[in-house]
Amino acid sequence: MTGGYRVGVIRGDGTGPEVVAEGLKVLEAVRGEAAFDLVEFDLGAERYLRTGDTLPDDELEQLRELDAVFLGAVGDPRVKPGVLERDLLLKARFGLDQYVNLRPIVRYPGVETLVPSHTEDDVNMVVVRENSEGLYSGAGGFHRKGTEHEVAVQESINTRHGVERIVRYAFELAMKPHRRRKLTLVHKTNVLTFAGDLYQRVVDELAKEFPDVETDYVHVDAACIYLLDSPGRFDVIVTDNMFGDIITDLGAMIQGGLGIAAGGNLNPEGVSMFEPIGGTAPSEVGKGTINPLAAIGALEMLLRQLGETDQAERVDRGIRAATQRMKSMRAGEMGFTTAEVGDLVVDGAST
Ligand code: IPM
Ligand code: MG
Repeated sequence: MTGGYRVGVIRGDGTGPEVVAEGLKVLEAVRGEAAFDLVEFDLGAERYLRTGDTLPDDELEQLRELDAVFLGAVGDPRVKPGVLERDLLLKARFGLDQYVNLRPIVRYPGVETLVPSHTEDDVNMVVVRENSEGLYSGAGGFHRKGTEHEVAVQESINTRHGVERIVRYAFELAMKPHRRRKLTLVHKTNVLTFAGDLYQRVVDELAKEFPDVETDYVHVDAACIYLLDSPGRFDVIVTDNMFGDIITDLGAMIQGGLGIAAGGNLNPEGVSMFEPIGGTAPSEVGKGTINPLAAIGALEMLLRQLGETDQAERVDRGIRAATQRMKSMRAGEMGFTTAEVGDLVVDGAST
C-alpha cells in the first residue's frame, strides 16, 4: 500500500541523532512512492537540562496521533539515573500502552560473535517481552527512608489482562509463516510462585487455542545458559518485563552486539515506537564510530508494522549486504564509519 505516514522522530541523546540520521537515510532510499511526514520531537537530556521537561502531557498526546515513532536513544551522564528512563521512555511506553516489547535476536551473515560454537543458523528467535507492567510498574515505595530501619519495596504487578494479551501475542507470532511454531515461557516459577503461576496458567490455557504451537518452559537463569549453549531451541520466547530486559542484552551479544540489536515497543491497536536497544554511548559521540545497524533494524521493524513489507524486505537485504562487508558490529571496529555503514545498507537495499 502507498501511504502518507506521519512518523514521530525522537533523535534523543548521545549517539542517538547519528544513528537516527542513518535510519532516515535508508528510509529515503527505500520508501518508493510512499510519503513519510517526519514529525520531530525535541525530547531527551538537552531539553530536560534546558527546561526541566521530560515528556509533557501535550507531547504525549501528539505522539498518540502518529502512525509510528522512531527513537534514537535517551540518557545522559549529566542527568540523574531514572529521570529520562522513567519520565520519558517508560512514560511513552506506558502512556501509549505499548504492551509488547518485540526483540528479534537474529544473526546476520558474516557476523562474528563472542560464542565461536554458534553457527550462523543457530541464532534466530524473537523475545516477546511484556512491556506495560511487572517490576516496571513503579509500584512500591520507601518507609523510614534514610534510617537504619529503612524499607524499600518494589512490587511486581501482573494482571490477568496484561499477561493474557502478551501471551496471546506470542502464540500468534509463533504461528506466523516465518516462525517455527514453538513458544517458550521464560520465568522463575520455582521462586516467583504467584506471578510465575499466573504466566504458566495463561500459557497452558491459551495453548489449547493454538494446538499447532509446541510450548516449553525454561527458568530465566537456565535461559541464560541455553542462549549460549543451545540457542537453536528457542523460536518465540515470552517473558515478563524485567526478565525480558535482562535476557535481551545477552541476546544482543549472541547476535553480534548492541550495535545490531533492534526492538519495537508495540501497541498493535495503537501507536508503536521503534528503537535500537542499546544506549546513547556518550564516549562515542561525534566520532562516526557507532554502528547504525540497530537503528536501521528498528526502522525495518517500523516499516513492517506499518504493513510496508516490500520496503522492510529491502532494508533487510541492505542490512545483510552490509554485515557481509563489515569487520565487526562493535563501535569503532566496524571497518567503516557510521555514515558508510548507512551507505552500505542503501546500496544493498537498492539491488
Ligand atoms: C531497554 C532499556 C530500558 C529498559 C531502560 C533504559 C529503562 O534497558 O529498553 O532495554 O529497562 O526497558
Ligand atoms: Mg535493557
